[in-house]
Amino acid sequence: MPSEKKPTTVYVGMSADLVHPGHLNILREARKLGRVVVGLLTDRAIASYKRLPHMTFEQRKEVVENLKGVDEVVAQETLDYVPNLEAFRPDYVVHGDDWRQGVQKQTRQRVIDTLAQWGGELVEVPYTPDVSSTQLNRSVRSFGTTPGRRLGLLRRLLDAKPMVRLMEAHNGLTGLIVENVVREEAGQRVEFDGMWLSSLTDSTAKGKPDIEAVDVTSRMQTLSDIVEVTTKPILYDADSGGRPEQFAFTVRTLERFGVSGAVIEDKVGSKRNSLYGTEVAQAQASISDMAEKIQVGNRAKLTTEFMIIARIESLILGQGQDDALERAQGYIEAGADGILIHSCQRTVDEVAEFGRRYQQLAHRVPLIAVPSSYNETHEKALEECGVNVVIYANHLLRSAYPAMVNTAQSILEHRRSKEADDQLLSIKDILSLVPEGDWL
Ligand code: SPV
Ligand code: MG
Repeated sequence: MPSEKKPTTVYVGMSADLVHPGHLNILREARKLGRVVVGLLTDRAIASYKRLPHMTFEQRKEVVENLKGVDEVVAQETLDYVPNLEAFRPDYVVHGDDWRQGVQKQTRQRVIDTLAQWGGELVEVPYTPDVSSTQLNRSVRSFGTTPGRRLGLLRRLLDAKPMVRLMEAHNGLTGLIVENVVREEAGQRVEFDGMWLSSLTDSTAKGKPDIEAVDVTSRMQTLSDIVEVTTKPILYDADSGGRPEQFAFTVRTLERFGVSGAVIEDKVGSKRNSLYGTEVAQAQASISDMAEKIQVGNRAKLTTEFMIIARIESLILGQGQDDALERAQGYIEAGADGILIHSCQRTVDEVAEFGRRYQQLAHRVPLIAVPSSYNETHEKALEECGVNVVIYANHLLRSAYPAMVNTAQSILEHRRSKEADDQLLSIKDILSLVPEGDWL
C-alpha cells in the first residue's frame, strides 16, 4: 500500500480583530504552500501586550473560519508561538515581514529556532503598505461604542488579564485622560483598562462632601458626560446603594448607560468617606441587610454581564479579619459578582492577610483593592495578594486641585498671569486638546 503523505501544514498566527487586505495577502501566500492552520490569538494573549480586541474570540473565530484558504482555526493562548508550534509541528509559518524590528523581534527568533528542530521554515510576506491596524483601530475608536458593548468589557478584561487597572474619572475631560494616556514600554502598551466613577471625586468636583449629598440623578449627569466621550469600561461607586428598592433603579439606569458594574459598601446611616477610618463614627450594615440589597440588585439586572460588587468595610472600621471574611462569604452566597476589600492602613499588610484567607474560600469572585493609603504597594504585589482589580480612586482630582490653587495664588500675587504661564497648557494646545469628532 502506498504510504499516505502527510499534508504540508502552514501555520499563520493572527489576532484578526480588524481584518484587512494585509491579512488576506498573508493567507493567499500561505495556501500556496499547503494546508492553512490559523492560530487565532485569544483575548488573554492579545491583552498581554495591548488593548482587548474589539471583537470577542468567538466572533473573530467565526470571521477567520470563513476566510478563503483557511482550513482550520485553533486558539493561540500566548503571544509566544512556541507552544502551538510544538503541538502542530508545521512545515511553514507565514508572517508579515514587519516583525523583524520592535516587540515581536524575539517572538520571531523563537519561531525560527523552534521550526529548525524539525526542518520547518519561516516565510515572510512583504508588509502590505497603506493598511495599518493601528490606524484602523484609531478610526474604530472614533466611532465610539454602544452601551451593550461597553457593559460586557469589565468581565472580558477580568477573563483576559491577571490585573485590571482602573483610574477615577469625574467629568468628560478626566474620562478622556483615562481613555487616552498610554505609555509605550519596550513596544508594550501600558494604559488604564477602565474608569472608576468615584463618589469622592464626583462630589468634590461639584464642591460637595462625600456624604451621598450628590444624588443619583446628579451622579448620572457626570456619568453621561463621561460615557459620551469614552469607550472604556466603567465601574460605578454606588456608595451604600441607598435602600434596596432605590438600588434596583440605579442598577437599571447604569445598565442603560453601559456601565459594567456597581460597588455597594456595607455602611448604614450617615455615610462618611472610608479614608477617615475610625476617626468618624460610622455603622456597618448587617450581613443579611447587605445580602438583601445584593439580591435585589441582581433581580433588577437585565443583563448577565452587569456586576454587583460588595465592598467590605470591616478593616476600615476595625472589625477584624474574621468579620471581613465572614462577610465575603455571605455576600458571595447572596450573589455578589465581586468583592472590594477596603483598607486605610499605610501598608498593604491587612489587605494581604485578607487576600491570603480569601484565596482559600471555595467560591471566590474577583477581588478588588483601592491602594490610596498604602500607595507604596506595587500592582505586582497586589496581584500576588490575589487582587484582580486595582482602583486609583482619586488621583486625577488630587493632582489637579493643587495645580489650580497655585495658579490662582500666582495671579493674585502678581496681578497678571504671566508668572503662571509655564505651568499652563498653551492656548494653542487647549484649543486642540479636545478635537472635534471626525464623524461630525
Ligand atoms: C471613592 O472613590 O469615592 C471611594 C473610595 O469610595 S474611598 O474614597 O477610599 O472611600
Ligand atoms: Mg465612594
